[in-house]
Amino acid sequence: MKKLLKFGAYTVGVLVVLLAVVAGAVFATSNEKIGKNYVVAVKPVRIPGDAAALARGQHIAQTRGCIDCHGRDFAGAKVIEDDAMGRLDGPNITMGGGGRVAMFEDVDWVRAIRHGVGPDGRGLFIMPSEEYAHLSDEDLGALIAFLKTVPAVTRERPATQLGPVSRVLLTLGKIKLAAESIDHLHLKPASVIPGVTVEYGRYVAAGCTGCHGANYSGGKIEVGPPSWPEAANLTAHADSRLATWSEADFIRALRTAKRPDGTELNPVMPRTFGQMDDVELKALYAFFKSLPPAAKGVR
Ligand code: HEC
Ligand code: HEC
Repeated sequence: MKKLLKFGAYTVGVLVVLLAVVAGAVFATSNEKIGKNYVVAVKPVRIPGDAAALARGQHIAQTRGCIDCHGRDFAGAKVIEDDAMGRLDGPNITMGGGGRVAMFEDVDWVRAIRHGVGPDGRGLFIMPSEEYAHLSDEDLGALIAFLKTVPAVTRERPATQLGPVSRVLLTLGKIKLAAESIDHLHLKPASVIPGVTVEYGRYVAAGCTGCHGANYSGGKIEVGPPSWPEAANLTAHADSRLATWSEADFIRALRTAKRPDGTELNPVMPRTFGQMDDVELKALYAFFKSLPPAAKGVR
């Protein structure tokens, strides 16, 4: 009996040490991924100053998700606060105190938005630059021009805390930094003409891939906390609601966050996309209609 107890204690001891080693490795690997340095060659874009370009830039800033993470005043907002995932806030991107863009040169803006890399070379965490990498030079220039005119607001950013699940997902490569996924050397910014076309829809829909997946089949959102619902299937598969919606249904759903059956969309689906103009929403609908059907979550 004594022997058995001794053996039991020994096994528990070994397990504790093993767990500590795994936890240590996860901690070290996730820190390494977050702290990794990226050297990218940044191609400058023209930053325009005319009123039409500023209005275009404002429209992009307000409809592509920036305000969901950086706040309506662009001075920062909470993105995730969850025991498992940790605490993460979008930083202040106004010229006010608490942010660092007041020191940005134009290429720093391009590096951050298009490449997902900060001026210090660190990959930006959760900032979905893979969705913005293909913004056309004109749209990116207009966006930066507008952001530089946003009134300065001073707001400190709460410290980032990586929760245990975030660390494991980072270690396993389930959460990737945008800087890791973007092919920095072969980036081809789009050259697009706004219009109700599948092509323009594809361009706008790049901003939906972070949650709905690269093939828009929806399913589990890896970067989200466990409380987030699955993203909807946006392809024409039989399990997709969108497959049966008319263009008017789709536009109404985005604008009002209500489905044709009256049910409300979970707030994880960003309301800001509903501020897109008719051309963008119609182009999105045309694009989704053109997609090959894929079962929900089969990415
Ligand atoms: C899903 C949330 C999210 C969205 C959407 C988002 N950002 Fe970010 N952004 C972040 C986070 C978080 C950081 C900070 C990352 C870090 O420090 O590792 C960041 C960093 C930045 C930075 C660098 C700021 C600095 O201090 O280094 C800029 C510039 C920026 N974002 C602009 C934008 C613009 C413009 C858009 C819209 C086109 C946008 N972001 C959309 C979350 C987001
Ligand atoms: C931050 C994550 C996120 C992003 C980004 C996102 N979505 Fe969603 N979306 C969701 C989630 C989650 C749902 C499911 C909501 C629910 O279950 O109530 C959803 C639901 C939808 C629905 C409702 C479909 C249905 O079957 O009920 C449509 C339409 C939709 N999204 C379109 C878009 C479009 C278009 C974009 C890009 C412009 C986009 N989404 C970007 C998370 C996102």
